[in-house]
Amino acid sequence: MADLLPALTTRFACRSFMDEAVAEPALRTILEAGRIAPSGFGMEPWRFVIVSSAAIKSRLATACFNQTPVASAPVLIAIIALVKALQLDSAYVQSRLEAEAGGGPVPDELKAAYRGFHEHADARNWAIGQCNFAAAQMMVQASSLGLATCPIGGFDEAALAAALNLPSGEVPALVLAVGHCADKQGKRRRKTMEETCQKL
Ligand SMILES: Cc1cc2nc3c(=O)[nH]c(=O)nc-3n(C[C@H](O)[C@H](O)[C@H](O)COP(=O)(O)O)c2cc1C
Repeated sequence: MADLLPALTTRFACRSFMDEAVAEPALRTILEAGRIAPSGFGMEPWRFVIVSSAAIKSRLATACFNQTPVASAPVLIAIIALVKALQLDSAYVQSRLEAEAGGGPVPDELKAAYRGFHEHADARNWAIGQCNFAAAQMMVQASSLGLATCPIGGFDEAALAAALNLPSGEVPALVLAVGHCADKQGKRRRKTMEETCQKL
């Protein structure tokens, strides 16, 4: 069993990237790590938009307030939350519930659980939260390949949606800048185990 801690501890938010491109197989492996991420009800309420064109990257950088990681990264992965697709009785929900049920008919219990969840959840925030699982897996995978990432949640949502030409009902959740880092990893300053965990 491979230990994930080395990839987790060497991951850090890289604020400045080198010019060097990300090799296609590595990028694909990172995307695969995101694709197989878990999600509530198996909804996978995401899609990933890969941006390496200088012109589109520049529009994304503007939407992200010209943050250096976005402006300098050779490739950006925009993680898009599929909010409208989560509507009750949508074809998308039906097909995802069928997948969740192992490819067969959707049991009444699962339908009722989704209905109950949907009535109480804020679908928009929920979908964005799910996208962060995919992002986390991509960041750890990149780290284990010796690549750096920076998750970017600081953006003008409307400007980013326009730059990505998103249809209504899709919302940008996060931009992941990926590349070879020009910075060194700084000292990690986290809350202690005692501050973080409580035993009852
Ligand atoms: C959801 C999310 C959004 C973030 N948004 C930004 C951002 O907009 N700009 C940025 O420079 N860093 C951003 N970060 C990176 C955090 O600042 C960074 O992860 C945190 O300070 C911990 O440092 P480390 O990742 O190097 O361990 C974001 C991180 C997360 C998880």
